[in-house]
Amino acid sequence: MNQILLESAVAAREFAYAPYSGYKVGAAILDVEGNVWTGCNVENVSYGLSICAERTAVVKMVSGGVRVIQAVAVATQDGGTPCGMCLQTLLEFALEPQSVAVFTIAGSGEVKRFFLGDLMPMGFSSDELRRT
Ligand code: THU
Repeated sequence: MNQILLESAVAAREFAYAPYSGYKVGAAILDVEGNVWTGCNVENVSYGLSICAERTAVVKMVSGGVRVIQAVAVATQDGGTPCGMCLQTLLEFALEPQSVAVFTIAGSGEVKRFFLGDLMPMGFSSDELRRT
């Protein structure tokens, strides 16, 4: 399944629309039901409107009726990890962040495995909201 997830992220990267940065990203999310949701970054001439690959995939998953992430794969040229905004978005749909694997795959084919809870150890949570 991890292999399918990695291949899905690499395939999704082909659709990246990144004419401004030139940095193409593909993402694939495995949900708890076993579905794979893919995404790519989609930039805009008004740069701030651009959306990352990981959040594209999350939006597809949630709008497809699923709300729990099991694992994530991200494909880039250099094996980059997800940005903070994407990590916070992924955290929203992770029941146990320490069990959600985040794989990166570089253009060279090198794969690394992280865990969401390690990449985002102090993410904002609803506990904070309740304290206000
Ligand atoms: N990008 C992603 O798609 N995911 C990340 O986690 C980090 C950055 C995109 C945004 C922009 O289109 C390009 O990479 C360069 O920042």
